[in-house]
Amino acid sequence: MSQIFDLLQDMACSLSQIIFHHKYYFNKYLSQLLYKIKIKINKMDEQAWDKISVDYYSEILSPLKDCKHNPMIDDLSSLDSKKLSVIELGCGIGDLIPFLDENFENVTAIDFSFEMIAQAKERNSQRKTNFLVKDMTQMDDFDKQFDVAVAVNSILTTDITKMNQMIKETYKILKPGGKLFAIIPSMESYIYQNMLFVDHKLEKEPSQKKVIMQASKLLDHKSYDMFQGIINFEGEEQKAFYRFEIIYRFEKAGFTNFKIERVPYRWIKWKEAGHTYFPKESPPWDWYFVCEKPK
Ligand SMILES: C[S@@+](CC[C@H](N)C(=O)[O-])C[C@H]1O[C@@H](n2cnc3c(N)ncnc32)[C@H](O)[C@@H]1O
Repeated sequence: MSQIFDLLQDMACSLSQIIFHHKYYFNKYLSQLLYKIKIKINKMDEQAWDKISVDYYSEILSPLKDCKHNPMIDDLSSLDSKKLSVIELGCGIGDLIPFLDENFENVTAIDFSFEMIAQAKERNSQRKTNFLVKDMTQMDDFDKQFDVAVAVNSILTTDITKMNQMIKETYKILKPGGKLFAIIPSMESYIYQNMLFVDHKLEKEPSQKKVIMQASKLLDHKSYDMFQGIINFEGEEQKAFYRFEIIYRFEKAGFTNFKIERVPYRWIKWKEAGHTYFPKESPPWDWYFVCEKPK
């Protein structure tokens, strides 16, 4: 027994020495481990979205409500759409449904969250839209059925294989010549906000080092994965896209004829959420893009 005790004491002693001498590597290892655990806990699956549906507007900043103008709505409005079929992918609580329902002949709306679909149905009970609980990664039964697909901040998964699958499925469900109208979070927008913060702070604080440190604390930079475009919002992981990534990923699935624009948010929404904001500068944005399945 005393031998085991000695052995344990030795192990504790060498571990503390390793920790002391390799504090930097130990800290790094520990933070990587915590980061991995965090990713596991905070996967944005259908249950996570079910929970968000309860208090949707306090959780979500929406390009349908909180932007200065929405070029996607302008483009959809200019379509000769009365005889067209449309599918909304990840419809949430159904904010876009009244517009789609009034402008298209057939409307299908899917979401993998049961609760989101329940609310979307209730809020649009008088409409012809067909609501379905369905995952965007599995849409085999919709092969070449739609003239138009719309996705507003619903391609958010941090699982790269799933994301590519969603894009492939979206391509498959469109008729030849069909169009995808999508809005997705912009990675550049986060980099831009960091730049604004640093620039403005440097007007008052001469130490660049200090300002950069403040910026990373304020914008919670440790939880930004700049390579994968993964942002951690207080524990929830979500995907944001670089402009070049939109073309790379959607072109790979077969889409052509890209038009990409900003959907500018209103700065006031940042203020309301308690974040630093810069009303004299151009506001942060999501990416809007439209692309086509060749005829
Ligand atoms: C930020 S909300 C946006 C909702 C809606 N498009 C809007 O703009 O109001 C994202 C929605 O996408 C849905 N979603 C995410 N991944 C999905 C998937 N793989 N299949 C279907 N829906 C998905 C979520 O359940 C959630 O309702």
